Amino acid sequence: MTDATVITTPSAKPVLPDAQTVTAVKHWTDRLFSFRVSRPKTLRFRSGEFVMIGLMGDTGKPLLRAYSIASPAWDDELEFYSIKVPEGPLTSKLQHIQVGDEIILRPKPVGTLVHDALLPGKRLWLLSTGTGFAPFASLLREPETYEKYEQVIIMHTCREVAELQYGQSLVESLADDPLIGELVGDKLRYYPTTTREPFHHMGRVTDNLQSGKVFTDLGLPRMNPEEDRAMVCGSLAFNVDVKAILEGFGLHEGANSDPKQFVVEKAFVGDGI
Ligand code: FAD
Ligand code: A2P
Repeated sequence: MTDATVITTPSAKPVLPDAQTVTAVKHWTDRLFSFRVSRPKTLRFRSGEFVMIGLMGDTGKPLLRAYSIASPAWDDELEFYSIKVPEGPLTSKLQHIQVGDEIILRPKPVGTLVHDALLPGKRLWLLSTGTGFAPFASLLREPETYEKYEQVIIMHTCREVAELQYGQSLVESLADDPLIGELVGDKLRYYPTTTREPFHHMGRVTDNLQSGKVFTDLGLPRMNPEEDRAMVCGSLAFNVDVKAILEGFGLHEGANSDPKQFVVEKAFVGDGI
C-alpha cells in the first residue's frame, strides 16, 4: 500500500492516511493564519521541531509541505502558523480549511531548533522574521526554555505591524498561562520590530544586532560565546546574514549531533533556491 492510498471502511466516508481533524482556525491578516488540529496519540516531538503536513491533491496524491509545530510538546493538540501564498500549491487551498476538516500529518518530527542542539548558557536569543516565529511559539511555551536559561529574548521582525499580531498575542498570553506563567516570570524579553511601517521599535534584526541597539534598549551585554545562545529562523537571506553576525560575536553553529552556541533553520524555501 502506498502513502497515497485512501482507506475505505465499510460504512464510513473514506479515511485519509495520517488524517487529523482541524479544531480551530484564526486569520490574522490576509497573508497569515494559524490553526489547530488533533494530535496523533503516537506523536512525540521536541518543542521547536517540524513535520510534513498537507492536503490531498487534485491528482489523488498528498500535497505535503514542511511546517514547524507552533505548539509546545506538552499540548494535547498541534498548532501551526501559516503563510497564504496566493498561487501556492498547498496554501492556496489550506487557507480555506475550517473546523471539522481533515489535513494530512506525517508523524515524523525533525529539526535543529531544539534545546538539545545548544550547549548550556545564560541567555537564549530567538531571532525570527515572518512565519519564522512558528518554532519559537512552541519553545516560548516550553517549560525547559525557562528552566535552562536566566533570560530569553525573542526578536521578531515583519514588514508591517499587523504581521506581528500572532507573536504579540502569544507572548501576552504567557503571563496567564497556568502551566508556565510562573516559570516565565520576568525572564522573557520581547523585541518586535517592523521595517516598512512606523512602530515603537523598527529595523531589521541584523541591523539592531550589529548596531548594538537591541543590547542598549534591553540593558544587556553584547552577545558573547560564554553566556549567549541563539536560535535563528527566517528566509535563507536572513539566516545567512544573522549567522555571519553571530559568528562575528564569536558564537559557533551547532547541530543535534554536535551542540554548540547557535542553530539555524529555514522558515521556508524561497523561489529558485
Ligand atoms: P510553495 O510552492 O511551497 O512556496 C511558494 C513560494 O512562496 C516560495 O518559493 C516562497 O517564495 C514563498 N513562501 C513559502 N512559504 C513561505 C513562508 N512561510 N513565508 C514567506 N514566503 C513563503 N511555512 C509556514 O507558513 N509556516 C511554517 O511553520 C513553516 N515551516 C517550515 C519549516 C521548514 C523546515 C521549511 C523548509 C518550510 C516551512 N514553511 C513554513 C514553508 C512551507 O513548507 C511552504 O513553503 C508554505 O506552506 C507554502 O506552500 P505552498 O505549496 O503554498 O507554496
Ligand atoms: P525589509 O522590509 O527591510 O526587507 P519578507 O516579508 O521579505 O520575508 O521579510 C520579512 C522581514 O524580514 C522584513 O521586515 C524584512 O525587512 C526582513 N528581512 C528580509 N531579508 C532580510 C535579511 N537578509 N536580513 C535581515 N532582515 C531581513
